Amino acid sequence: LTVQIDQPGAAISPMLYGMMTEEINHSYDGGLYGELIQNRSFKDDPANPVHWSFLQEGGAAGSMGLDGAKPVIGALSASLKLTITHGGGRVGAANEGYWGIPARPNTTYQASFYARSSDTFTGPLTLDLESNDGARVYAQARIDKISSEWRKYHVMLSTGELTPSAANRFVVSASTLGTVWLSQVSLFPPTYQNRANGNRIDLMQKMAAMKPTFLRLPGGNYLEGNAIAERFDWKQTIHGMDDRPGHQGPWGYRSTDGLGLLEFFEWCEDLKVEPILAVYAGYSLPPKNEKIDPGPDLAPYVQDALDEIEYATGDIDTKWGAARAADGHPEPFKIQYVEIGNEDWFDPSGSYDGRFAQFFDAIRAKYPSLKLIATMPVRSRAADLNDEHFYRSPAEMAKDAKHYDNYKRTGPKVFVGEWASIEGSPTPSMNAALGDAAWLTGLERNSDVVLLSCYAPMLVNVNPDASQWGTNLIGYDALTSFASPSYYVQKMFGSNRGDVVLPVDVTPQAYPAVTPAPTAGAVGVGTWVTQAEFKDASVTHDGRTIYQKDFTSGADDWKKSGGSWSVEGDVLKETTEIENCRAVTGSPMWSDYSYSVKARKTAGA
Ligand code: AHR
Repeated sequence: LTVQIDQPGAAISPMLYGMMTEEINHSYDGGLYGELIQNRSFKDDPANPVHWSFLQEGGAAGSMGLDGAKPVIGALSASLKLTITHGGGRVGAANEGYWGIPARPNTTYQASFYARSSDTFTGPLTLDLESNDGARVYAQARIDKISSEWRKYHVMLSTGELTPSAANRFVVSASTLGTVWLSQVSLFPPTYQNRANGNRIDLMQKMAAMKPTFLRLPGGNYLEGNAIAERFDWKQTIHGMDDRPGHQGPWGYRSTDGLGLLEFFEWCEDLKVEPILAVYAGYSLPPKNEKIDPGPDLAPYVQDALDEIEYATGDIDTKWGAARAADGHPEPFKIQYVEIGNEDWFDPSGSYDGRFAQFFDAIRAKYPSLKLIATMPVRSRAADLNDEHFYRSPAEMAKDAKHYDNYKRTGPKVFVGEWASIEGSPTPSMNAALGDAAWLTGLERNSDVVLLSCYAPMLVNVNPDASQWGTNLIGYDALTSFASPSYYVQKMFGSNRGDVVLPVDVTPQAYPAVTPAPTAGAVGVGTWVTQAEFKDASVTHDGRTIYQKDFTSGADDWKKSGGSWSVEGDVLKETTEIENCRAVTGSPMWSDYSYSVKARKTAGA
């Protein structure tokens, strides 16, 4: 292998390695977003207070149910009504969290909620972070008196020494007679860089360690929604928490929008990465395929996009820059790239050309320096970049590593805005990571045309009920998180960024002749044989084929037939007759690539 360091080639894009995000697999609610209470505003199900259970203990009795009669404000339209009819013990509402609530030692949690009470209720109201069986109380706080009008209450709960656990619940309870109504019940652990309404620390640390340069937000399908009314309507995700109604996402659950547009940008700020902002482009997902045709009907959506860019980048003397300042962030965010829509090739009407043109013209006129990304090739305007997506098997990714080698160098550049080697669940296998690495070498080698790339999806709550996508980069539950092999590929490439491509010559190595000369189907004791010398790509021993390419399935795979061996990474481990089977170039999983396999029978085996 010769690296020609004296012949630097094309520059590598400084923003080649980034991140992609959306609300999928409970990436935010039950993931990155610090909130620990599930269904905090009681809107997940209009009929039942799901994720809350009713407690009556020590002879106390009462009832619990939803009540929409006297909302806090419009966005907080539902409340939980807790009535205590018999005292003596406690009557309470217990929240199960997002598949548990993490209790950590010596930690302070911030609880807040709206409450009002009947005139008869004398208090107090007690808040507990406790084990699911109630046997262990890790932290407790009390509010002595509850107003008869809606009021917001804030209180801290601090734990002492304890063994970290997740099988816990958060209980709001009372022992005296009367009724209490609750809304927007929230519990926050410490967050990354102590941001109020901020993000989970371990996940932010893992992202930071990948050394990414950008975050593509807010989706994905999450941008589009299953219907126009369910799109990421950014104006509904800003201002205070109590102004955000939340919305139904495309992955089967509601979003609180606690992690809203400003929080996306602050997430970027905390990781020192640039937002790549995708704006809703007037098309929502199949099967409804709701869309707005180019023309006057689309104009309000174009205006929404302009407003959104202004909210992100405008000075405080602009309308939306001022709104951002009022939301707590006077400094504008730096944005260079805006994507118009997501995967618009799904639109069966083919309206994207026209929709793109309308957004392009308006954004270009007001923000001429922004680079505009199309989600599929367009003819109506000259997009700066096209976003291309690849979800394939590891073998396909590796096989296609030369995808951009002969890509045309005129026309739009490329944003590989979603890609992954799909194998392993909920996070990728080692083999998938090898496919990823091969693929990334191709993107980097062609980074004169591929300016941006990001793996997707990035986050997965590994509880089976929480995830919708098979292969995801970083896994977690309520208490812990882990990085997958593919994560380490991202980290390796992101942390070792080159500035120019250097030409590499690979000269296939000839293996020394083996003595005695091997014969297909007969492996000599203690001798090495190469796969190339076995034209049928198999190794046979004692009349049994123990190593054979799987031609029948069409899969780029190897299988054993007889004997006993296994593959670990690119090492074939034979446990019975053969040892030291090894792919010496490439991986045995990638049969369409050049490789050789050596096999040696161990003396005496
Ligand atoms: O990454 C998961 C989904 O795949 C994205 O939401 C969508 O853009 C793509 O089809």
